[in-house]
Amino acid sequence: MSTSATGPAARDDVPRPAGLTESAFVRACRRRPVPHTPVWFMRQAGRSLPEYRQIRAGVPMLESCRRPDLVTEITLQPVRRHGVDAAIFFSDIVVPVAAAGVDLDIVPGTGPVVAEPVRELADVEKIRPITVEDVSYVDEAVRMLVAELGDTPLIGFAGAPFTLASYLVEGGPSRSHAKTKAMMYGAPELWHALCGRLVEITTAFLRVQIAAGVSAVQLFDSWAGALSEADYRRYVLPHSAAVLGSLADAGVPRIHFGVGTAELLGAMGEAGADVVGVDWRTPLDVATKRIGPERAVQGNLDPAVLFAPWPVIETEVRRVLAEGRAAPGHVFNLGHGVPPETDPEVLTRVVALVHEVSAESNG
Ligand code: CP3
Repeated sequence: MSTSATGPAARDDVPRPAGLTESAFVRACRRRPVPHTPVWFMRQAGRSLPEYRQIRAGVPMLESCRRPDLVTEITLQPVRRHGVDAAIFFSDIVVPVAAAGVDLDIVPGTGPVVAEPVRELADVEKIRPITVEDVSYVDEAVRMLVAELGDTPLIGFAGAPFTLASYLVEGGPSRSHAKTKAMMYGAPELWHALCGRLVEITTAFLRVQIAAGVSAVQLFDSWAGALSEADYRRYVLPHSAAVLGSLADAGVPRIHFGVGTAELLGAMGEAGADVVGVDWRTPLDVATKRIGPERAVQGNLDPAVLFAPWPVIETEVRRVLAEGRAAPGHVFNLGHGVPPETDPEVLTRVVALVHEVSAESNG
């Protein structure tokens, strides 16, 4: 296969049958009526599942992301167990950056750690564009998954330029993003050059997944909530918009998510999303007013609620569904990822409850 992943000719030979385009998940993303509110969970494939811990034992995270057999099995685990309405591709946001030549590791309990953080233009230039050959294991795993999943949609994803840049500039996870902001304010040309390179990589990475058959993509700007709206619009939005805009013709819904983004919801929608992911801090009816009628919402049960007694969980799920009715489309999710200590049985019960309650009110 020699097709360039960045070019408009990225291979798209996987038909998307009606079962997928008419699925409750894709319909909700498209703001069309649904028989029940679709539900999936960010980080549903991962540490909360004993079958995941078993299969990952002794296999480093980056290596598991490069093994299509493992990726396929891990991605399918929560679909089998919980009956969620969509699968999310098992990988990590730093996988395409590693494929672009950045020396990094995913350290257990810490997260991505970059050997030589980006400090100057020469560092940016070392990050090379990627082609489908650089991530052939992703192409292969997506194709295997689409064949296995039948009518259950697969969501592809990538990290947004700001969140990726934060790992590259800080050298690892950061609370304050101080070095990242220092570059933004102090060396804006360098900042925009870095983000420009990340736009290319992210777009190529998402195009590989779309060409291989994913039914939707999610752009994770997990740490965008660290920014004021003015800074977000000036330093970040143009880059995220370049990614999302370049996929406008790709034929799959685009979800755009961040944490702590109450002040950014309107801008994150303007970046070109079909669906805006909302964390637990903003009720979905309030979020919808900020985002407007042109986009669906995704969210937003507080992950910490999963540790509360069941009656509390039930009340909160019902509240999220009721508030979500104010939106032109709603995909139920958590406000951020599944915490590792979560009892998987609780997630299964939440899926059943979302289906039951929403089928009553939508039917
Ligand atoms: O479930 C697991 O935690 C096991 C596998 C794993 C993932 N990432 C899966 C993942 C591990 C060990 C990581 C490392 C990592 N990378 C962390 C966690 C550090 C730790 O040990 O607690 C983090 C925060 C990153 C960076 C990262 N990856 C971000 C910011 C995001 C966006 C989503 C988010 O949490 O804000 C990811 C995406 C990611 N990591 C996905 C998966 C399966 C895809 C999205 C999804 O499943 O919802």
